[in-house]
Amino acid sequence: MKKSEIDLIQTTYSGKKVLVTGHTGFKGSWLITWLDMLGAEVMGYSLAPENDYDLYNQISSETKHQSIIADIRDKEQFEQAILNFNPDFIFHLAAQPLVRYSYEHPVETYETNVIGTANLLAGMRTLSKKCAAVLITTDKVYHNNEWDYPYRENDRLGGYDPYSSSKACCELLIDSFGKSYFNPSSYQEHKISLSTARAGNVIGGGDWAKDRIVPDIVRALEKSEAINVRNPLSVRPWQHVIEPLGAYMLLGAKSYNDHTMGGAWNFGPNTNDILTVGELANHAISIWGEGTITSPEVADGPHEAGLLMLDISKAYRKLNWEPKYTSAEAVAISINWYKNFLAGEKAHQLIKNDINNYLNIT
Ligand SMILES: NC(=O)c1ccc[n+]([C@@H]2O[C@H](COP(=O)([O-])OP(=O)(O)OC[C@H]3O[C@@H](n4cnc5c(N)ncnc54)[C@H](O)[C@@H]3O)[C@@H](O)[C@H]2O)c1
Repeated sequence: MKKSEIDLIQTTYSGKKVLVTGHTGFKGSWLITWLDMLGAEVMGYSLAPENDYDLYNQISSETKHQSIIADIRDKEQFEQAILNFNPDFIFHLAAQPLVRYSYEHPVETYETNVIGTANLLAGMRTLSKKCAAVLITTDKVYHNNEWDYPYRENDRLGGYDPYSSSKACCELLIDSFGKSYFNPSSYQEHKISLSTARAGNVIGGGDWAKDRIVPDIVRALEKSEAINVRNPLSVRPWQHVIEPLGAYMLLGAKSYNDHTMGGAWNFGPNTNDILTVGELANHAISIWGEGTITSPEVADGPHEAGLLMLDISKAYRKLNWEPKYTSAEAVAISINWYKNFLAGEKAHQLIKNDINNYLNIT
């Protein structure tokens, strides 16, 4: 991100009311820490963290925010919370975000991701002041042709597994609400700008989710076990968590100032920045200092996309946004975070250090 855009983020959120759904999750914990650093008045709405070691439990007492522990599928409670708080900004991250879990629990995945988002959009209809909402979907919303080409925002939506499909459904739902209730042509009546953000595989310190590559790597390295790499040749748009979060905040700030910036946006690494899962694991080992890899002879588990890249030209051109870190740098920063955390440093301070380092890159 360029300095002018960093400056915009630095000046936009101070004293503003920001609703973050999914604040108890991995990205949510980083986001509320950053918003707190900016002096925003933050309210989170999410389920409770599942495990004692979850990142939110490490940072919550040191991060100023209100926290509502509740379900986004509970229409009444969610709508009431939105109305009572009356936010200037909304970042909607709450979701069932795991592909493998979605194969086992498809209905729950659709309920949380689609109905939960519908409840948010319905709740936003009760707002009476200017508000910019950024709703987080994923790079997996695209109908994946395993193309060598990166996907653009106007490519066909799809989704093989229930998680990806549920997020593609969210895109259609948001598009419908954007036309029916928050149409840019009647902005002066509703004053809501609505955007979706499609980012790729996010890595960074403090993620302990099951079946995600970096947490799996750290768990293996910590126990001196071989890292089991399911699909070593798969390519993903790896990004440090700070990159999409900065992009969400920039999109929020720009669409707050100019509602025509709403719509769908891709955020990912540069398309020539390619790292396979196997290369990522090897790089993680080199940063950690030691470790080994095993791979099943035939890729195991349910279908997962092999090749997926995003075209970020729209964000580059219209938002003046670009990633600062290469995928390899993102891996190094993430693994160092875990090393320092496991050596006893505080999660909250480590997050702040990573954010400050990012902001200070010229
Ligand atoms: N982490 C990634 O690599 C990645 C990549 C692309 C998109 N995303 C998207 O980013 C968002 C955040 O992902 P994350 O990695 O932080 O996930 P996470 O699992 O760490 O956090 C999910 C959050 O959603 C909340 N939540 C889940 N079900 C809920 C419900 N029914 N009611 C209220 N809250 C509920 C959880 O309590 C938690 O706060 C998700 O929308 C996800 O789909 C993540």
